[in-house]
Amino acid sequence: MSTFIATLQPAGLQFAAPASMPLLQAAVRAGIRLAASCRNGTCRTCMCRLTSGSIRYHIEWPGLLAEEKAQGFILPCVAHAASDLVIEGVFE
Ligand code: FES
Repeated sequence: MSTFIATLQPAGLQFAAPASMPLLQAAVRAGIRLAASCRNGTCRTCMCRLTSGSIRYHIEWPGLLAEEKAQGFILPCVAHAASDLVIEGVFE
């Protein structure tokens, strides 16, 4: 499986994002804390926006509306990188 580079904006932090691992878990592995609660794609605490690149979900119905998906919102607790990518949100 491939490993991609994820960039967090506006902080500019980067971490390795293996396709085999949710983005949230990859960030934690790199010492970066993202807001999260359920970690299974239902609570939406982790919701942030993908501004560049692509992701894949390994679950059928992540807790996003079709309109939100169309606007680029993702749930990094269940989203896996499918390319180098940039996400915007609040990170610690
Ligand atoms: S942590 Fe609950 S949807 Fe991501």
